[in-house]
Amino acid sequence: MGVYRQRYYDYFSHFYDTFISIHSADKGENARVFLSENIGLQPGEITLDICAGTGSLLPYLGNKVKQEGMVIGLDFSFGMLSAGRPKVAHHNNIFLIQADVSYLPFRDKIFDSVTCSHAFYELKGKTQDYCLQEILRVLKPGRPFFMMEHDLPKNYLIRVLFYIRLLSMGAGKAREILKNEKAFLGKYFSSIEALYTPNTRSKVLVCKE
Ligand SMILES: C[S@@+](CC[C@H](N)C(=O)[O-])C[C@H]1O[C@@H](n2cnc3c(N)ncnc32)[C@H](O)[C@@H]1O
Repeated sequence: MGVYRQRYYDYFSHFYDTFISIHSADKGENARVFLSENIGLQPGEITLDICAGTGSLLPYLGNKVKQEGMVIGLDFSFGMLSAGRPKVAHHNNIFLIQADVSYLPFRDKIFDSVTCSHAFYELKGKTQDYCLQEILRVLKPGRPFFMMEHDLPKNYLIRVLFYIRLLSMGAGKAREILKNEKAFLGKYFSSIEALYTPNTRSKVLVCKE
């Protein structure tokens, strides 16, 4: 587990929601609503949100799977999860787990879907491959992985800030992943379709084995 990276995110957790509200004109909410509305989650399903961060997506997912379903928000940063706790406090179908995406602490084939919002490109080096292998292991056969990513910011200043943050994490591959996710995901999934948010600068890649 990357201890220094964990500490980076623990520290960043104090500013993360504020940073996102500056970076994203809609504070990320339209994109999260779009994701939860367009991926066909059904009551009773069990879904896993990896790199859940401060948990902003989780209540939307929890509302879709309803009381009979379950949402697990997983992240390796205790700070990020702690910042997310108030957002899920009133949802007794949402659970937070601290773990690394390279080793998901679940048995095989138990999730109806896996989501990852605005995070995959931040995974370092081989972690991206380990993560995708683990996602395929824990998904029920034929079930989808939904990856939501930013389109690169159009505003020059915001784009510069975005790249500075990527550089601060040493995420050299991140820019390539953002530009060419389909080629990377194609190593693991045979079907990859993109859904584009109408009013935001995010897209959702729907990946199936
Ligand atoms: C940019 S934040 C995204 C948070 C959230 N999904 C959102 O949409 O706001 C990236 C998250 O990935 C988590 N993360 C990075 N590497 C990880 C790893 N190897 N295992 C688990 N979580 C990781 C970080 O702790 C951080 O919370």
